[in-house]
Amino acid sequence: MATEAGKQIGYLNFNYERDASKKRNIFISYMYVKSEYRRKGIGSKMLKFLLAKKKNITWINFWTGKEIEKNKGTNIYIKNGFQKLAYQEDYYEKGVGTTLFVKRIK
Ligand SMILES: CC(C)(COP(=O)(O)OP(=O)(O)OC[C@H]1O[C@@H](n2cnc3c(N)ncnc32)[C@H](O)[C@@H]1OP(=O)(O)O)[C@@H](O)C(=O)NCCC(=O)NCCS
Repeated sequence: MATEAGKQIGYLNFNYERDASKKRNIFISYMYVKSEYRRKGIGSKMLKFLLAKKKNITWINFWTGKEIEKNKGTNIYIKNGFQKLAYQEDYYEKGVGTTLFVKRIK
């Protein structure tokens, strides 16, 4: 969760469960920053904070949400070292797909 003066201004939800190999990897389910606080680096900071906290992971991945696909804001993930691995067109509605981003940690 990101806060300013005690107020929540953003959050990042993720799963961090052990898989069949007994390793943990991160799957982001959603990331959000209040609209008046966007483009100030808060989303990037939350991603960096998560990666700094969670050690011994091999990869982090997620499928993008509808809003970021509509806004064409997915550059945030490229800027933070993620690779675009797949794209599913017309996923949310006609013309709005979803993208699989992955970052290999080690
Ligand atoms: C996605 C989100 C969390 C990004 O948070 P943020 O704090 O604005 O992110 P940052 O300030 O770290 O942005 C870093 C870079 O991402 C890109 N970016 C972010 N939002 C963008 C937008 N709306 N349009 C184009 N590029 C965008 C830019 O390259 C930006 O760098 P710049 O400001 O130097 O150009 C925020 O826009 C949000 O909550 N959106 C609504 C919910 C959502 O779509 N969540 C993502 C689900 S996958």
